[in-house]
Amino acid sequence: MLEIKNKLPFVEDTSLHDIIKVCQTPFYVYSQKMITHKVEMTKKILGKNIFFSVKANSNQAILKLMNSLGIGADVVSVGELKRSLDAGFPPNKIIFEGVGKSKEDLIYAIQKNIRLINTESLEEIKLLQKLALEKNKIIDIGVRLNPNIDGGTISKISTGKKTDKFGIEINEIEKIVNLISNCNNLNLIGVSCHIGSQISNIDAYKNTFIEMKKAADKFMASGINIKHVDLGGGFHVSYGKNDPKFRIEDVKSELDSQFNSSKYELSFEPGRYLIAEAGILVTSIINTKENGGVNYLIVDAGMNTFVRPAMYNAHHDIETITKKTDNSIQYTVAGPICESTDIFVRNILLSKQTVGDILIIRNTGAYGKVMSSTYNTRSLPAEVLVNKENFAMIYIPEKIEKNIEEDIIPSWL
Ligand code: LLP
Repeated sequence: MLEIKNKLPFVEDTSLHDIIKVCQTPFYVYSQKMITHKVEMTKKILGKNIFFSVKANSNQAILKLMNSLGIGADVVSVGELKRSLDAGFPPNKIIFEGVGKSKEDLIYAIQKNIRLINTESLEEIKLLQKLALEKNKIIDIGVRLNPNIDGGTISKISTGKKTDKFGIEINEIEKIVNLISNCNNLNLIGVSCHIGSQISNIDAYKNTFIEMKKAADKFMASGINIKHVDLGGGFHVSYGKNDPKFRIEDVKSELDSQFNSSKYELSFEPGRYLIAEAGILVTSIINTKENGGVNYLIVDAGMNTFVRPAMYNAHHDIETITKKTDNSIQYTVAGPICESTDIFVRNILLSKQTVGDILIIRNTGAYGKVMSSTYNTRSLPAEVLVNKENFAMIYIPEKIEKNIEEDIIPSWL
């Protein structure tokens, strides 16, 4: 996504230095070409029923782009649902799921006539029936099943084991069938699952497909006409040279083997796979110091800007763009936040860096800006979209200092 042309860093045909001139670090940059490529490639291999998992990146410009590429949206909150509708996704290309939807969330989704509300508990099915009856509507729903499969990813992003909070246990199909037969306002037409994120193990996909096919067949045998089988997201993205290899073509082979003769409409909900590699985080070095033999580069992005390393111990490649002499010094790159976990990477080799030099953190297009916060009362990062030789600011943060008046002082102070 970032290329060096004539010793200068470029995103597509735009010089990164041109962006730095007008945009204060830290900021995210996305490549429209790369997002387009990933979406087109995924559609070509897995078919047209791709729903972008909006939680990975919910910037309006990104959502508009995703919509223009002909895919749908997978949302998990009313906020994401509103953003997707605003960006132009047709309601019949939006799926709403999530383990904790409130009554108000469900009412909003019912009113918007979206493609499917995926329910995650028997209680939620009962509530939906009540709400649909009150609104005098018959609505299409799906059930998210928990197939009890360990995707082999880190526990913090695993969702498909039976002790995880997600979905309805796959061995409770009979209970769902009994319940649904008394719900005259609900049309159960879909089953879905999502066993976790960063899944590279092809056997995990295979086992999930086997279980989901069995589950859909079981519903059919009970007289419920299942149309959609939604197989979730979770496709692995390589964040560094030590990451396992993953080919989406292998997922497709398993899909074909398991669903070959079936008539179900198959769909997927990738987030990370479509956008992680299309983004970088650009940050400036604001201080250098040596503590106990460790050479620290303190940068202006922190765990509040990009939380994956602090939260999941995630590795992201970091490079310098300002100095390209031989790598000679071992550095630990840290943010400015007052937490020891605010470290992006330890002991990487870079050429000698000084204050004002620029570092880029790679593969940060997914779960980057969306997870940023104002912790330590710092402003949110900006976002920039590049299209060939053009670039546009797609998010300009309000300076946090300006928000002071939003707080309310009670009369007794
Ligand atoms: N569908 C459902 C129901 C999900 O819960 C998720 C992600 C996805 C699709 C998309 O998964 P993806 O294709 O992006 O792996 N913040 C974490 C990732 C959390 C993912 C939660 N659910 C991270 O930065 O690694």
